[in-house]
Amino acid sequence: MTDRDPNEPLSEEEIHNISRLPKVELHTHFEGMAPPAFIRGLAKEKKVDLSKIFRPDGSYDYRDFWHFLEVYEAATSVLKSPEDFARLCTAVLEESAANDVIYTETFMSPDFCGGGDVSAWKEYLHAIQDAAREAERDHGILLRGTVTCIRHFGPDQARRTALCAAETVGDFITGFGMGGDEKKGKQRDFAWAFDCAREAGLRLTTHAGEWNGPQEVREAVEDLGVERIGHGVRAHTDFALLDMLAEREITLEVCPGSNVFLGVFPSLKDHPIAKLRERGVKVTVSTDDPPFFHTTMHKEYEDLASTFQWGEEVFRDLNKTAIEAAFCDAATREAVLKRLEQT
Ligand code: HPA
Ligand code: ZN
Repeated sequence: MTDRDPNEPLSEEEIHNISRLPKVELHTHFEGMAPPAFIRGLAKEKKVDLSKIFRPDGSYDYRDFWHFLEVYEAATSVLKSPEDFARLCTAVLEESAANDVIYTETFMSPDFCGGGDVSAWKEYLHAIQDAAREAERDHGILLRGTVTCIRHFGPDQARRTALCAAETVGDFITGFGMGGDEKKGKQRDFAWAFDCAREAGLRLTTHAGEWNGPQEVREAVEDLGVERIGHGVRAHTDFALLDMLAEREITLEVCPGSNVFLGVFPSLKDHPIAKLRERGVKVTVSTDDPPFFHTTMHKEYEDLASTFQWGEEVFRDLNKTAIEAAFCDAATREAVLKRLEQT
């Protein structure tokens, strides 16, 4: 498979067709996919004043990543009942399917679904799964959930989250991960939670190397034993680490639009995704929290194609990498792979 000659610019039609390819997305935050209008609607129903988290044009309003985490939690506060999360599931899967995503994984937080209580979490999960089944029937999109602890909530709460994950491992909940503020604590502070999840049969990923440097990515691999990394892009300056990631086939869940919007890199031109891929690191493309970062999977593909002059074969390869690294069973992987190849 050869990459395109960068001297031959892709036509608008080629870029459009690339953006419409069937896709596998591995890195989204469930609540972070909520359209602002959806959250505003719930706030109105529940008579909660959330006006301070929206701009006059209706979009989410925040200054930087740390303020984003606060606004995220404020927006999430109106998602109260299992029914609210079921409605969220329907809304986000419709949007993903409209972006030609055929398989998606999302980070789900028991912290927001009953506060880490196992029986409450099971009720939320039940409602979410019903909605996901309907979306599969209506739009052909498959969803798998990665239970996610939140780093700035600390290791004790992460233990409760891991127990929720371990109690609900199955065809739908297939992974365990960690998001939140990478500047708080160390990866190894969460080793108990990750060991608990691994022993229960869950696949592991953690956010690392979005804000901290290469050492954070190394610690994620060595101290938690994860097989995927959320972001990982700040590993790009450490060639020995990149070679280790390539050799161990650790897949990076790269979210280029999120990184540029939050200022991790000044522009997509400066983003290391192409260099990481050329070095042999397994990279995939996701949107993270699409309405917060003003992105969609269509936009990610259009921007990557026009910036790096990547042809269709590169995107097909990225999707193959993604389904190979997906936290699903072999039969699901085969079925998705077949759909990727046939379209
Ligand atoms: N990064 C880290 N933690 C998060 C994010 C994110 O983009 N969204 C929600 N929690
Ligand atoms: Zn993320």
